[in-house]
Amino acid sequence: MIMGKKPFIVGNWKMNLTLAEGIEFTKSLKKSLQGKHELICGICPPFIFLKDICRVLEDSGICVGAQNIHSEKNGAYTGEISALMVQEVGCTHVLIGHSERRHLFGEVDSFINAKIKTALGINLKPIFCIGETLHEREEGRTKYVVKNQLKNGLMGIDKNHIEELVIAYEPVWAIGTGKTASPEQANEVHSFIRGFLTNEYGKDIANSVYIQYGGSVKPENTKELIAQPEIDGLLVGGASIKLESFLKIIDAASIQ
Ligand code: PGA
Repeated sequence: MIMGKKPFIVGNWKMNLTLAEGIEFTKSLKKSLQGKHELICGICPPFIFLKDICRVLEDSGICVGAQNIHSEKNGAYTGEISALMVQEVGCTHVLIGHSERRHLFGEVDSFINAKIKTALGINLKPIFCIGETLHEREEGRTKYVVKNQLKNGLMGIDKNHIEELVIAYEPVWAIGTGKTASPEQANEVHSFIRGFLTNEYGKDIANSVYIQYGGSVKPENTKELIAQPEIDGLLVGGASIKLESFLKIIDAASIQ
């Protein structure tokens, strides 16, 4: 954790929960986090829940993010949702380039880059997800892959916008598998990402960017992950859809 930052803990619900369950979860989360200022918390519910959930969380300080957007502002894209639409219902953040979008839905770097630009263009903050597969790690290509994802994803983005980005390092082999990167393994890649940002945009900007770790985060490994010098927050999938475990993660991240 870089000095002066508060941990940023985000729950990615993916395609889980009912609307009623989501609202109940959100009301309880809001109650539990009242007066808790030592960290920043966010949730990314499915699109169709966003409006109701943003309403529950109004003025709570808890951020709401969408799980995806299209890169175009509007148009004939049946089934897609625009950046402006999610912002209009109250989202401040959006996940872009999540590994499930890349690997299950074939999203490529250029599309991800266009989405990041669209989001930044209306002041919607991207949580830009990157990470290597198991095969790439085993071949010793982790840094090469991460660097390319960064280079391509951030291509042509104005330096002034970089501070608004959150980067989530999520090794694909650790997502939903129960295998977490060790705190040291994660920190090594975070440090590499910080180095890339320093080279491209300078030290001040690089230090102000939040770099989250994601991949089988649970209450038991939160403390040691967040204690790493380059880990500024966590992106939590499976353990974020049960209030009890998400609150335990939040508690563990608050005490340092
Ligand atoms: P997981 O998912 O915590 O269930 O591994 C993380 C993510 O996909 O963001």
